[in-house]
Amino acid sequence: MKIGILTSGGDCPGINATIRGVCKSALNHYGMEVYGIHNGFRGLMDGHINRLTEESISGLLTLGGTILGTSREKPFKKASATLNNNKPSLILKTLKDYGIDCLVCIGGNGTQKTAAKLMEVGVNVISIPKTIDNDVWGTDISFGFDSAVSIAADAIDRLHSTASSHQRVMVIEVMGHKAGWLALYSGMAGGGDIILMPEIPFDIHKIGDTIINRLKKGKPYSIVVVAEGINTPEGKKAAQYIAEEIEYETGFETRETVLGYIQRGGSPTAFDRNLATLMGGHAVELISNGQYGRMVALQGNRIDSIPLSETAGKLRLVTEDHELVVQGRRMGICFG
Ligand code: F6P
Repeated sequence: MKIGILTSGGDCPGINATIRGVCKSALNHYGMEVYGIHNGFRGLMDGHINRLTEESISGLLTLGGTILGTSREKPFKKASATLNNNKPSLILKTLKDYGIDCLVCIGGNGTQKTAAKLMEVGVNVISIPKTIDNDVWGTDISFGFDSAVSIAADAIDRLHSTASSHQRVMVIEVMGHKAGWLALYSGMAGGGDIILMPEIPFDIHKIGDTIINRLKKGKPYSIVVVAEGINTPEGKKAAQYIAEEIEYETGFETRETVLGYIQRGGSPTAFDRNLATLMGGHAVELISNGQYGRMVALQGNRIDSIPLSETAGKLRLVTEDHELVVQGRRMGICFG
């Protein structure tokens, strides 16, 4: 049995731990051969592939990024199809040339879509969700999220002392694409006073009132955590827009911080290492059972899987009845 493995989309902590989980389990327990495909689906088109051995996967558990490289190549995307798109056939040819029986795709939402399409053209596929955004539908948590939450919460902690010293409003922008998970979890863990997410519309007057009320209670500084995906006019960046509006609304000196790619870099947390390891191992178990066309998923405390057709094209978003939002509101945190 030969399996191919690739990583696609934005990188995140825990990808290498997953590659390790897949490889070690496949090599040691199931006696399979594993082939590493470089730079996502692009590597399947240009044949950038090499065999992975115990030696080539050593030291991966704690390593950030992906040793296989990644890209945002979408071989089935319609725009490229207009130019005589032969990408899918190139992929099929490469898989045939290498005799790869099953492909393991580690990625976010875009990857789930591509994996589902590959399944439709006859490729045996298993996918594993990874993203700091935590927005892959069908899994309670994607690895990478916990690490990013830790990094962002640490940054928010650090903003507290400088906000308090200068009696300023600090606005911090975190990633998350169209979802507010990272803002919600890091904002709550970091003690944010105002947390803005794409899923919950905000009123700038309410935000201003929250800041002024804090002053009345003897708290002349505030921490505002903003998801990059909130609705802003004229294509303005989230933190920049919110900081300008707060200053205008309250007269408080306001500063902005955009956390950026730091959230995606470095070593995974212990939680993400274990989740990645479990998901990697489960993927190989599915392959050994011939259960293809599935995405590995964490459901409650169990590692399970769902059909790729169920997750492809869907987004997992924050809802207003999420426990952290409900309890946060009771504590006086403003969500917009
Ligand atoms: O999906 C992960 C993510 O980091 C998002 O949070 C962010 O919007 C996006 O990727 C950034 O993409 P890129 O790496 O293409 O700049």
